[in-house]
Amino acid sequence: MIGVLVSGRGSNLQALIDKGLPLAAVASNVAGAGALARAETAGVPTAVFPLEDFESRETRDLAMAAWLEEHGAELVVCAGYMHLLTPAFLERFPAINVHPSLLPAFPGTTPIEDALAAGVAETGVTVHFVDEGVDSGPVIFQEVVPIRPGDTPESLRKRVHEVEHRLLPEAARLYLSGALRS
Ligand code: GRF
Repeated sequence: MIGVLVSGRGSNLQALIDKGLPLAAVASNVAGAGALARAETAGVPTAVFPLEDFESRETRDLAMAAWLEEHGAELVVCAGYMHLLTPAFLERFPAINVHPSLLPAFPGTTPIEDALAAGVAETGVTVHFVDEGVDSGPVIFQEVVPIRPGDTPESLRKRVHEVEHRLLPEAARLYLSGALRS
């Protein structure tokens, strides 16, 4: 069973739902995130863990981990989750993240805009295991997305998302099948 972490509109969560993956629960750091409505529509339990409600990032992560565990999560998938996870959380679960660049190029919060500003010919998608760093950790999949003349952040993001929606569910499926476990 998968516990999903979200902060945004949740198109990657929707891809996990649409592929029929076993979702235990969806947690967010952002009240009102669009992703929460998608989970509710799909009948998946949700909860919000805003940082400001806790003493520290670690106590927030421990509460979130306990809630995910209660719901049966064994793998955590970060589907547009915009906070770092603390070691205390990562000791409890293996975690997978999707990032819209060919890491280690363009880590951080504006990778699409950064790739366009850098004038590179291609960017892409990385699905990777999460460690304590910013968009670091062992890579599971990478796929190139060419940048076209005249691309805007919106047009490029649309093509990047199409790739994300294919690669993230596939990585989660592989993990649950045992293929990615050592
Ligand atoms: C995705 O591009 C993901 O790679 C990044 O945040 C975005 C989330 O989009 N980490 P969504 O909320 O899944 O639509």
